Amino acid sequence: MATLLYNIGQLLTMDQYDGQVRGKDMNNLPVYENYAVLIEDGKISKVGPSSQLENEPADEKVDCEGRLVTPGIVEPHTHLVFGGSREHEMALKQQGVPYLDILKQGGGILSTVRATRETSEQDLYKKAMFHLDRMASYGITTVEAKSGYGMDRETELKQLRVANQVGKDHPLEVVSTFLGAHAITEDYKDNPEGLLDEMAAMFPQIKEEGLAEFVDIFTEKGVFTVEQSRRYLNKAKECGFDVKLHADEIEPLGGTQLAVELGARSGDHLAVATDEGIEQLANSDTIGVLLPGTIFYLGKGDFARARDMIEAGATVAISTDFNPGSSVTENIQLIMSLAALKMRMTPEEIWYAVTTNAAHAINRGDVAGKIKEGRQADIVIWDAPNYKYIPYHYGVNHVNTVFKAGKKLYTRGGLHV
Ligand code: NIG
Ligand code: FE
Repeated sequence: MATLLYNIGQLLTMDQYDGQVRGKDMNNLPVYENYAVLIEDGKISKVGPSSQLENEPADEKVDCEGRLVTPGIVEPHTHLVFGGSREHEMALKQQGVPYLDILKQGGGILSTVRATRETSEQDLYKKAMFHLDRMASYGITTVEAKSGYGMDRETELKQLRVANQVGKDHPLEVVSTFLGAHAITEDYKDNPEGLLDEMAAMFPQIKEEGLAEFVDIFTEKGVFTVEQSRRYLNKAKECGFDVKLHADEIEPLGGTQLAVELGARSGDHLAVATDEGIEQLANSDTIGVLLPGTIFYLGKGDFARARDMIEAGATVAISTDFNPGSSVTENIQLIMSLAALKMRMTPEEIWYAVTTNAAHAINRGDVAGKIKEGRQADIVIWDAPNYKYIPYHYGVNHVNTVFKAGKKLYTRGGLHV
């Protein structure tokens, strides 16, 4: 099966650099005009000027009519699998009750833990498939999914099994992360170490059954300290996991520095990272996964200092942080707008942040995030004339067509008029 995409107005291949793209390099974005891409048997087989490829034999020829074409978007940080929802907390938020106070009162993450424990594996599966469909409709072709709403052995395993099963059954690729250390449950209120021990005791089984590739922890005031996080993640590394941290989201505890010290694949949030944290990040390979949707949704003003990070030489990715509490959206395009408006990232930086760098943040740099001969054809055709248009026209879905591994996965529907 061969498909030719021709008459592409602007093509972003994101293929200027071999590895993760850092600092100033994030502004070096080649744009190919009047290009074409040939897909054969699910893979990209040729990329070149439309005039040269237009006559290639193909089963299907798609006239892109001058549209923008990019790699499929990589989403490196989601809490995909969970039970219930938390719209009842909206009123508390409006009254000004802080996120960490809602959690302290047994709400927030803990309310989703209760709902997830009560939800059957089958229902969690259906719900996760629904959210994956929606992500695909926004142009996402690869997704990271964290557990962390079980926080007991049985429910964490249930969530991890669901993440793996939807990854098998849904066209999108799902990369699984174990976030057993996500909050402190009632049983462990006075003994957070006990909870970490219980979660760490699961590492060998999770590794053996291939249920997760990463281990993550919420390093935050009132949740896990830097010291506890260090010990826990070192154990994870000993068991062969790559690690990630929810770091410096609300209080600047030094999670960014810890991420660098541990050689974490990514430090996520980093909204209140200090000068020292930013400097260390810039001198490391740890990727800063910034989540401006969360800061917006929590009603806070501390957007991560993306400009300082990039100017210091760090590698930056962005993500929705899709979850039922602090960022309830699958719309990565909205996050691209927030990155532009609230973190002053340039359109070029934003495109690296949702493709190549996001792929490297989940160890998929070699397979996702680029349009390159020989790679799986994860490609989006956008209803936009150029790449700057997507962050500019905010809050709506600009996707025209999504290809996953060369197959048409989503096409914009028409109005019934
Ligand atoms: O990334 N901060 C911790 N975890 C999630 C929120 C999860 C929730 O509120 O349910 C986050 O923001
Ligand atoms: Fe998160």
